[in-house]
Amino acid sequence: MSPKTPNNSNSWPAWLDLIQGISGLVLMLFVWAHAFMVSSILLGKDAMYFVARMFEGEPIFGRPYPILVSLVAAFIFFIFIIHAVVAIRKMPSSYREFRVYREHAKVFKHGDTSLWMLQVVTGFVLMFLVSGHLYQMLVHPADIGPYASADRIWSGRWWPIYLVILFAVQLHGNVGVYRLALKWGWFTSKTGHTSRRTLQKAKWGITAFFLILGLLTLAAEMKVGFEHRDNVGERYQPSDQATGLTPLNTDREPH
Ligand code: HEM
Repeated sequence: MSPKTPNNSNSWPAWLDLIQGISGLVLMLFVWAHAFMVSSILLGKDAMYFVARMFEGEPIFGRPYPILVSLVAAFIFFIFIIHAVVAIRKMPSSYREFRVYREHAKVFKHGDTSLWMLQVVTGFVLMFLVSGHLYQMLVHPADIGPYASADRIWSGRWWPIYLVILFAVQLHGNVGVYRLALKWGWFTSKTGHTSRRTLQKAKWGITAFFLILGLLTLAAEMKVGFEHRDNVGERYQPSDQATGLTPLNTDREPH
């Protein structure tokens, strides 16, 4: 039975829209935070080692629990699936629908209408590619670290996939958050005025920032992976002073 509004009309589309917005926002907040965490490699191998062990709870529990990473990956996977399932209803379902959209976009010549198609295409790309990354993190949570990650990226040939995900997620997600800001009037003044131009500038600024950060991160990981290509599987040994952690788990076996 579908939920009814007081005048008995169907309110499902509004609920689905709300679920799509909230799940998209949660995913994007995660993606922004994730970009900073992975970029720890730019500060050096010890910094990335520390961040990886921190997410395994080592500073709190005294030893790493990779299951914590699996739990976060499972949660993000769940939100990702919900977001994809509710979003799929908005994709053009036939060539006819697609042509109607194209003609509409041509007539309106409005930047935001063209951005919608970009979101459809990047959303489709993400559905395929992000699942692989999330599955990897879900089932091999202990294989995260300066050498483990760099080996996967370079010798495991994951870098082309990460490169595509990086562009797709930043374009898709930042356009999505921009739409939410317009829709929910987050930056609407008391007089009811929203400066679309300011929001657009912010959107492109944030997108450019995370693309540059992501590209630098990926380049740094590829460099470490390339230099480590003859020792794939070997784990990084931190210098104690830099991590401040006990070296008890430094030589973990690869999974
Ligand atoms: C709990 C979930 C996640 C975990 C634990 C995680 C962890 C990681 C780690 C450790 C790396 C470094 C490379 C490696 O070890 O293979 C990485 C790279 C990357 N991840 Fe994730 N990730 C998660 C979810 C996501 C999601 C949802 C997205 C995007 C939709 C994403 C996009 C990327 C990209 C683009 C890179 C390449 C590095 C860059 O250029 O910034 N990840 N991730």
